[in-house]
Amino acid sequence: MNLQELIEPDRVHRSVYTDPAIFDLEMERIFERTWVYCGHESQVPRTGDYHTLNIGRQPMIMVRDRDASIRVLYNRCPHRGVELCGNQSGNTGNGFVCSYHAWSFHLDGKLRALPLAKGYEGTRLTRDNPDCNVKAAARVDSYRGFVFASLVAEGPGLLEFLGEARVAFDDMCDRSPVGEVEIVPHCHRVMQHSNWKFFMENQLDALHPSVTHQSTGVPARRVEQRVRAEGATPPLHFHYLSTFASSFDQWDSVQTVNFPHGHGILKGYMGLRPTDADTLEHEAQLREAYGAQKAEEFLSRNIHHVLVYPYLSVQSPLQQLRCLRPLAADRTLSEIWHFRLKGAPEAIYRRSMWYFNLVNSPATPINADDLENWTKAQWGLQSRGGEWVSLHRNMGGDTEVDGVLMSNNGTSEVVMRNQFRAWSDYLSDDPTTESTDA
Ligand code: FES
Ligand SMILES: [Fe+2]
Repeated sequence: MNLQELIEPDRVHRSVYTDPAIFDLEMERIFERTWVYCGHESQVPRTGDYHTLNIGRQPMIMVRDRDASIRVLYNRCPHRGVELCGNQSGNTGNGFVCSYHAWSFHLDGKLRALPLAKGYEGTRLTRDNPDCNVKAAARVDSYRGFVFASLVAEGPGLLEFLGEARVAFDDMCDRSPVGEVEIVPHCHRVMQHSNWKFFMENQLDALHPSVTHQSTGVPARRVEQRVRAEGATPPLHFHYLSTFASSFDQWDSVQTVNFPHGHGILKGYMGLRPTDADTLEHEAQLREAYGAQKAEEFLSRNIHHVLVYPYLSVQSPLQQLRCLRPLAADRTLSEIWHFRLKGAPEAIYRRSMWYFNLVNSPATPINADDLENWTKAQWGLQSRGGEWVSLHRNMGGDTEVDGVLMSNNGTSEVVMRNQFRAWSDYLSDDPTTESTDA
């Protein structure tokens, strides 16, 4: 397979969205090598708390160890391969016990005991054989409470990988007067019948909202106008929906910033600093905690989404995080989480919950309209109705400074061009030429 023939600067071949062999390469060369988000520290507060997830095609367990550290282990018994944790999350006590033959392990994966141990005497499976332990991810690190793991020992560290995209977590945490967030321990999980790249491209695709979400945005705007005409102030959550009906020109004036590794930012387009009593109380808390200048800096970051390529969309001003777990070329599990700002007024949390339920929930027209487009895109690209996907919009109009691509047009397809640049870099790096697994 010649990958270079599939990716051109202004178009990509349809097979990158549909071919199972390319999906396998993506898992091997991107997801199973780069830093992947596992969860938030507050998801596993007590010893033995665990959460299961996939890193690429690998079933993993994020677990809180007795020394308070967080481990990320393969969800696989070293004896005959049975998954150790069958649930999404739970508490496994002081260790893991395999349900098949009761081998047991400490929370760091080291063998604790095996039944009828003398049956192994004289074999090469001695207790000091590392093959007796549950295998761990090669690297685990966290940034401001957000836990990541990489299945290979080599490559950039977490901070280098995140680069400028770390602002996603700064912007979220700095809105708390104690600088921390706490996960709301339930997420929406949505099975997308489409390739993971549609979601990532869509997050910064400012050309689509006024079309795709017109049926929600326009009625919300009418209600807002009627409430105002009656002399009242419409609640902020109408604004969440009505902004989708902004004009093409308005969307074109919203900038995107496109970083190395495929990360990116869609700058803010919603007014999220109303002057109601709750907001004023929250802002006063932040001034008290950080001083007026810092607080203003934190509150005026111009962000709508931050993308951590290839799997996260973080809406930091509203404490939302969406994470992709790709399962096949045409199947992607997405998790939609939201967070509380520790120490902030309850009303600020309710604002996040409104957004979570009104925009990001699978029950809303917003999310459903996006999902429908991505499914139809998958079907269209599986057809022989054309070989190429166009990424031409505003081609040639981008500026690049230190590897950061900017466009003066919010609706530019520079977003997708930048993501495919990172994609090509990952896929052309053949790990079979080196031994990387820890
Ligand atoms: S497979 Fe786990 S103890 Fe046998
Ligand atoms: Fe959308």
